[in-house]
Amino acid sequence: MRPLIAPSVLASDFANLQSEVEMLNKSQADWLHIDIMDGRFVPNISFGFPVMESIKGHAQKPMDVHLMIVEPELYIEKFREAGADTISVHIEACTHLHRTVQQIKATGAKAGIAVNPHTSVQLLEDVIADVDLVCLMSVNPGFGGQKFIENTYRKIEALKNLMVQRNSQALIEIDGGVNQNNAPLLLEKGADVLVAGSFVFSSADPIQTIADLKSIK
Ligand code: DX5
Ligand code: ZN
Repeated sequence: MRPLIAPSVLASDFANLQSEVEMLNKSQADWLHIDIMDGRFVPNISFGFPVMESIKGHAQKPMDVHLMIVEPELYIEKFREAGADTISVHIEACTHLHRTVQQIKATGAKAGIAVNPHTSVQLLEDVIADVDLVCLMSVNPGFGGQKFIENTYRKIEALKNLMVQRNSQALIEIDGGVNQNNAPLLLEKGADVLVAGSFVFSSADPIQTIADLKSIK
């Protein structure tokens, strides 16, 4: 199966957001990856609801919202109203993760769980059957353009095994430092969705770069 490609809008030119989103509409991108950072869960602040709503106004593809915020349960409905199709919360940010997953699903959005590089996927054992997506962070969240962490390959294998045991149909998304060089092995190990920020937006021809990622498998 060909991978789903989710370019991260964080790496786009914010002064030309409309044309960036229109470029993604024309491309083979499957989703728009929207990184929300609060300056508390991660040491950076990205953007919030007004910008997200502006993106939604032009986007013709689903919005995959990655919440890097503390207490995400306070804002789930607002992100859904702002146009989120999938909402991922960090396992490290949720005291009542099972409840928060149900809260996301109650809005009609797909529910995802994001996992930091240091967090064992085994912690997902009792919730994996309930979620639509697991986002494995292949960098420490907070910034685009960081170096890919090689241990991610092993984590995909461990997650795949857990999913078989628990009969989970979740998609496996890889986020951080993804490029043409690591994408083939990520897909071979079982990734379904590739997020790519700087690799797409720093390239000379983002539409072609997205097409190249899309055609890997
Ligand atoms: C990191 C974000 C990623 C990031 C990916 O905190 O969650 O989605 O934007 O950007 P690249 O592909 O440049 O690592
Ligand atoms: Zn992200």
